[in-house]
Amino acid sequence: MLTLAQITDLHVTTDRDPPNRRRNEDRLRQVLAAIHALQPRPAAIVISGDLVDRGEPQEYAALQAVLRTVDIPIHYAIGNHDNRAHFLTAFKTMGARTDPNGFVQYAVDLGEMRLVVCDTLEEGRDGGGFCERRAEWLAQTLDEAPDSPTVIVMHHPPVLSGIQWMDPEPDAPWIERLACVLRGREQVGAVICGHVHRAFSGRLAGQTIAAAPATSIQLTLNLTPVDMETADGREILVEEPPGYALVMANQGQITTHVCVAGDFPPAVTYTQPFRAA
Ligand SMILES: [Fe+2]
Repeated sequence: MLTLAQITDLHVTTDRDPPNRRRNEDRLRQVLAAIHALQPRPAAIVISGDLVDRGEPQEYAALQAVLRTVDIPIHYAIGNHDNRAHFLTAFKTMGARTDPNGFVQYAVDLGEMRLVVCDTLEEGRDGGGFCERRAEWLAQTLDEAPDSPTVIVMHHPPVLSGIQWMDPEPDAPWIERLACVLRGREQVGAVICGHVHRAFSGRLAGQTIAAAPATSIQLTLNLTPVDMETADGREILVEEPPGYALVMANQGQITTHVCVAGDFPPAVTYTQPFRAA
């Protein structure tokens, strides 16, 4: 059995934005402490994008200061709040990798699980993208190991959460392109994502898509229609606790736990055998 911890939407920032800096860093540290306390210790951590809030070099430096306390290998994906060039410059000595076209895409063999990181950043846009070159790379990379249980990581979920102001068009070309690659590649156990700052799951091309909660703040679960041109005063973000996901490879299966970070007292302890001798 092997586990991978997924953290997402860290939105680390600088002293230009003191309340958000404190809150987002405190919550990130809380999640990292919870992950370090897990038994067994995860084999790796993957960060599925929005590492920082504005893509600035100073923000990546602030993130690195926090991550230096981590003694679990970390793999990185980028999101719409990131800047590809600034990320690659800042993290070139901390494990940043690209495909031959310069996208933050690569595969990592963790043993019982193969991790394939994809880049859905379209700079200047909040929504996702996945061009022909990225899709070709993904198809080739998946075909290199058709029998290895595989987890794909990308920032943008290619399915609808129902929170309308965050959702993509379900028939967007990038989603259709991705679906063509995912369809029939049975080694894929899950596509894990972030972006929506809330845990939810769906299906695309026969594959499981699972989005994890943010380490920073969560999106309010409001499934009512929203007018994108008229603000109606609704709550859009909420101070729910920070969270993460724990992805498990076990006997050839991939499963995902959604976890809340925090100090919770035990409700019941194991004092009677589950089975009589
Ligand atoms: Fe985010």
